[in-house]
Amino acid sequence: QQLELELEALEKGGYEHFMLKEIYEQPRSIYDCFRGRLNVEEGWVGLGGIKDYERKLVNANRIIMVACGTSWHAAQVGEYLIEDLARIPVEVEYASEFRYRNPIINENDVVIAISQSGETADTLAAIGLAKSKGATILGICNVVGSSISRVTDAGSYTHAGPEIGVASTKAFTAQVTVLTLMALSIARKKGTLGESRLRALLGDLEAIPAKVEKVLEKSNIVEEVAAVYKNAANALYLGRGNCFPVALEGALKLKEISYIHAEGYPAAEMKHGPIALIDEEMPVIVLATKGTSYEKVVSNIQEVKARKGKIIAIITEGDVQVKELADHYIEIPDTDENLVPLLATIPLQLFSYYVAVMRGCNVDQPRNLAKSVTVE
Ligand code: G6P
Repeated sequence: QQLELELEALEKGGYEHFMLKEIYEQPRSIYDCFRGRLNVEEGWVGLGGIKDYERKLVNANRIIMVACGTSWHAAQVGEYLIEDLARIPVEVEYASEFRYRNPIINENDVVIAISQSGETADTLAAIGLAKSKGATILGICNVVGSSISRVTDAGSYTHAGPEIGVASTKAFTAQVTVLTLMALSIARKKGTLGESRLRALLGDLEAIPAKVEKVLEKSNIVEEVAAVYKNAANALYLGRGNCFPVALEGALKLKEISYIHAEGYPAAEMKHGPIALIDEEMPVIVLATKGTSYEKVVSNIQEVKARKGKIIAIITEGDVQVKELADHYIEIPDTDENLVPLLATIPLQLFSYYVAVMRGCNVDQPRNLAKSVTVE
């Protein structure tokens, strides 16, 4: 027993919980994920594992992504990346819905299955169905040699290392990194991005680990905000564009480990329902970084403020407008708009972590949840 405890402390590498350790590993895990897969000077990007299927991807009529939980959120970010950069239509499906829906799918479709564990029963079943219809199946898995990595035609590992905390953190950012590499390599082959834009994006991706490090340095600010809202009954997460899935993921993290009811919403949809819930008790976490929908998000923040809701804003370093409107703000470094999810996710992970710790919850093993769901 004593030995087991000591072993666990050793595995946690000085961190109080695996989740915190894994959050802090992200500069390294993101780096490990793109290492050897891009070269900024040469404007080159490629994923060795799916090399033989590059042509198939470039010519695909559409890409269908299947996943569950946090991996489904990564897929949602992937949809924005592949549609924007590589101009291929993408559909994202819950594996559990896809498998029972008699989906329209054929040989010209490419299915990408995303799974940290590579063992999720619904995702495996969705792959089986897509295979039977003749589609090409690619996998994005973290666990090497897992069931999903074996049944797919080809795939790319996320190389995030073992993830022990039930709530997924570093696996998510690694999945988004692989999807970014995939979008860029298709774009390069298809010629949908100019040479200089491609290089700029590769350079920005290479700079992400150092920027994640900078976000992690803000953890004390996140902890202070967590202390203010640790007793909230509800929380609303708002984002637009590729930050909408970040909002969903932030809400999921809070639900999973702190048991606070939280919902993620596209910021503009707030007026079609959730706005009715806003009062002075309601923390609203808003992804309000600089980008195409910045002004729109500012209006959404004003709508929340008019109803006395409390704003916790994730903003771009140097922002002034939202800083003034928000009750609390957490700054993240500037980067290409396509890469913002990789940075904006970090403070939301930390926020749910600190709230859960302050509420005395079992962070690494939340009630009723399993790390990998191998049954239906
Ligand atoms: C479970 C885990 C989640 C995970 C989901 C999908 O619900 O608790 O953290 O996102 O399964 O798992 P997968 O291994 O397929 O990514």
